Amino acid sequence: MDKQRQKPIVLTGLQPTSGIHLGNYLGALQNWVSIQDEADCLFFISNMHAITVPQDPIELRKNTIDCVAVYLACGLDPKRSHIFVQSQVIGHAELAWILSCLTPLGQLERMTQFKDKSGRQAGEFVGAGLLYYPVLMAADILLYNAHLVPVGEDQRQHLELTRDVAEKFNGIHGPLFNIPEPLIRGNCARVMSLQNPTAKMSKSDPNSLATVFLSDSDAQIMKKFRSAVTDSGTEVRASDEKPGIKNLLHILSGVSGRSVAELEMDCAGMGYGKFKTVVAEAVIECVRPIRVRMEALKEELLYLQSVMEEGHADAQARANATLAKVYDHVGFACGKNL
Ligand code: TYM
Repeated sequence: MDKQRQKPIVLTGLQPTSGIHLGNYLGALQNWVSIQDEADCLFFISNMHAITVPQDPIELRKNTIDCVAVYLACGLDPKRSHIFVQSQVIGHAELAWILSCLTPLGQLERMTQFKDKSGRQAGEFVGAGLLYYPVLMAADILLYNAHLVPVGEDQRQHLELTRDVAEKFNGIHGPLFNIPEPLIRGNCARVMSLQNPTAKMSKSDPNSLATVFLSDSDAQIMKKFRSAVTDSGTEVRASDEKPGIKNLLHILSGVSGRSVAELEMDCAGMGYGKFKTVVAEAVIECVRPIRVRMEALKEELLYLQSVMEEGHADAQARANATLAKVYDHVGFACGKNL
C-alpha cells in the first residue's frame, strides 16, 4: 500500500443519470481504465452533483448502482482501483462549504456549464446548487489531494477553478493541497452529437438519434450511425469544414486505437454510406462486450454493494485525514470538548 501511495493520485467520476454514452466512454472511461496500473486511482459516482437538477429518488438510487456495473463492465478493476459513491463519504460537502467561502461569486457565474444549464432552464426553477456545482467538484478533487484528473474537454474550466481555489487556500492557510492537473487525452476528448456535429454528444439530447448509449443494441447503434449528419461531399477527411465526418473519424479512431491519418487512407474513396457502416460496425464490436458484461453485473447486486463498501472505507479514511488538516488550517476547533 505504501508503494501504491507513491504513485500519483488520480481521481475522477461521472454523474449517475440514466444512460452512459459513447462520449463518456471514449472521452473519459476508456482513459480511466488505461491509467489504473500507473496511478493510485479513485473513481467515484457523483450523485451529489446529479441532484443539481431534479431527480426521482428511486431512479437515482438505481442509476447509482447501475453506474458501478458500468464502471466494472468498462474495465475498472476494484482490485486495483477504489470505486465509491460520493454521498457515502462524509467530507465532500464539508470541504465544498469551506472552499465556497474562498470562491469568487463572479467566477461561478461565468462558468460555461452554469450559463448553459441555467439558460436552458430560463423561466423555471434554477437551484443554487447549479451555481455551486464546480465548488463541490473542487472539493471532490482536493479531498483526496489528487494530482491528476482524467476528464473530457467539457470539464477543463471546472479544473481551472479547482486549481485557483487550491492555490487560494494554500496562499491563505499554508500549503496543504496539491495543485491538480487535468488529463484530457486524444481525439475523443469532445465527442460530438451524431445529429449536430457542432454540439457535444450529451445524455440529455432530445433527439434520440444524436447519442449512442452503452446500453444500445447492435441494431440501434447501426441505425444511429447510418443516420448521422454529414455534409454534401464524398471525401472522408477530418477537416473543420466537415465536422460530421471528422467526428466519425475520431470515434472510429477511439474504438479501434488507430490513428486518424491511417483511417483517412483506409477509407479514402469509400463514400459516406459505406464509411458510416464501417464506423457503426467498429462501435458495435467495442460496445457489445461492455453491454453484455453490464447486463450480467446488474444482476450481481451483492457484489456491486461490496465493491461500493470497500471503496467507501478507503475513501472515508483518506477524506477524514484531509478534512482534519483543513479544519486545523482554517482554525476550526476540534478538541474533545470544543
Ligand atoms: P459527466 O457525468 O457529465 O461526464 C463524465 C465524463 O465524461 C466526459 N464527457 C465527454 N467526453 C467526451 N465527449 C463527450 N461528448 C462527453 N460528455 C461527457 C466528461 O468530460 C467527464 O469526464 N462534473 C462531472 C463529474 C464530476 C467530476 C468530479 C469529474 C464530479 N466531480 C471531480 C472529475 C473530478 C460530470 O458531470 O461529468
